[in-house]
Amino acid sequence: MKTAVYPGSFDPVTMGHMNIIERSAGLFDEVIIAVLRNSSKIPLFTIEERVKLLKIATKKFPTVRVETFSGLLVNYLETKKVNIIIRGLRAVSDFENEYSMALMNKKLKHNIETVFMITEDKYAFLSSSKIKEIYRHGGRAKDLLPENTEQFLIKKIESKLESREKF
Ligand code: PNS
Repeated sequence: MKTAVYPGSFDPVTMGHMNIIERSAGLFDEVIIAVLRNSSKIPLFTIEERVKLLKIATKKFPTVRVETFSGLLVNYLETKKVNIIIRGLRAVSDFENEYSMALMNKKLKHNIETVFMITEDKYAFLSSSKIKEIYRHGGRAKDLLPENTEQFLIKKIESKLESREKF
């Protein structure tokens, strides 16, 4: 049984992530989406909300499950007895960071393999941060988000703006 881990912040999940999840589910027997808890970036959504949105978005994939992790990714992989990391690559600009992360993970644990999947061109410009920026300023990009995620995003931004909370 080949299992792979797809790690990330998923703040929130986008159609770019969904594209990688769907294609990975076709390649591996099981895919674990691993949401990072202790990111240095301040997330818009809590860890519970990010997991919930991912679970809703992936419920049609029976071999995909959603978990969380903290600390080093390679240690989490070890606890799961998995050695494959999936990462999406959008553009050359992603490459440098992804390359060093893959090499660093391999340096930390030699049996780790990072599998890069090229994001479909229609999502090559898409990122969770761009989505948040668009919605924060009243723009809409419904087709770039999984069903349900958009409503959560609109509500979350409204509540942050109402409470004058910085985000
Ligand atoms: O969606 P992101 O924010 O690009 O995902 C980045 C993530 C979560 C994969 C990465 O930051 C990560 O693995 N963090 C955990 C700490 C770690 O193991 N870092 C890699 C060593 S360089």
